[in-house]
Amino acid sequence: MAKFQPVSVKLKDGGELLIREAAPEDGEALLEYLDAVSGESDNLTFGPGEFGITLAEEQEYLRKMQERKNGIYLLGILDGEIAATLSFAAGGRPRIAHVGEFGMSVRQPHWHRGIGTALLSAFLDWCHETGIIRKVNLRVRADNQRAMALYEKCGFKVEGRMSRDMRVHGGFVDTVLMGKEID
Ligand SMILES: CC(C)(COP(=O)(O)OP(=O)(O)OC[C@H]1O[C@@H](n2cnc3c(N)ncnc32)[C@H](O)[C@@H]1OP(=O)(O)O)[C@@H](O)C(=O)NCCC(=O)NCCS
Repeated sequence: MAKFQPVSVKLKDGGELLIREAAPEDGEALLEYLDAVSGESDNLTFGPGEFGITLAEEQEYLRKMQERKNGIYLLGILDGEIAATLSFAAGGRPRIAHVGEFGMSVRQPHWHRGIGTALLSAFLDWCHETGIIRKVNLRVRADNQRAMALYEKCGFKVEGRMSRDMRVHGGFVDTVLMGKEID
């Protein structure tokens, strides 16, 4: 059986979002996506030009990700273009194989269309189906209300706060730790 069965989601405005696992062949489009999305908010751990991964490294990363049972890289595709991504990796050792952290983003022109909700829901369904993943964590900028509203809506709870967890434009930013148990 495929690790992740692609799913097509009808958005509230009628758009059609395809959610599928990323493959090494997506490497180039993914690097272009990351470059674009990094300039659309200050909420990610990298700004424009700061991702610092070559195409060969990205392709190798995607290949390894495909092989993992407790990690996944999902793409949200709109009209053939990457509109959103979500990546997650749990630990490599037995005691931490059930728990990991994810990060996600949606291209700014497509915010508030329900894409973030659809992608996160598909990811949480997959977590449940793996039977391995029992806890999902994330870190979000303490002032990123929009993302926190999405995570709370999907059942995540605040578990802590880290001071000076990011440095953006020279200023320190706190992050909030959120988590959801998968049963
Ligand atoms: C955060 C992000 C992923 C949300 O994606 P999205 O596709 O816009 O999310 P959705 O349209 O599914 O909206 C999800 C929820 O966010 C909240 N939300 C959306 N737009 C909002 C707005 N303008 N103001 C406040 N809350 C808002 C709502 O609770 C919404 O749920 P609802 O539609 O049921 O009311 C997206 O804005 C993004 O990529 N931002 C930049 C990068 C980022 O912040 N990533 C997260 C890092 S932790």
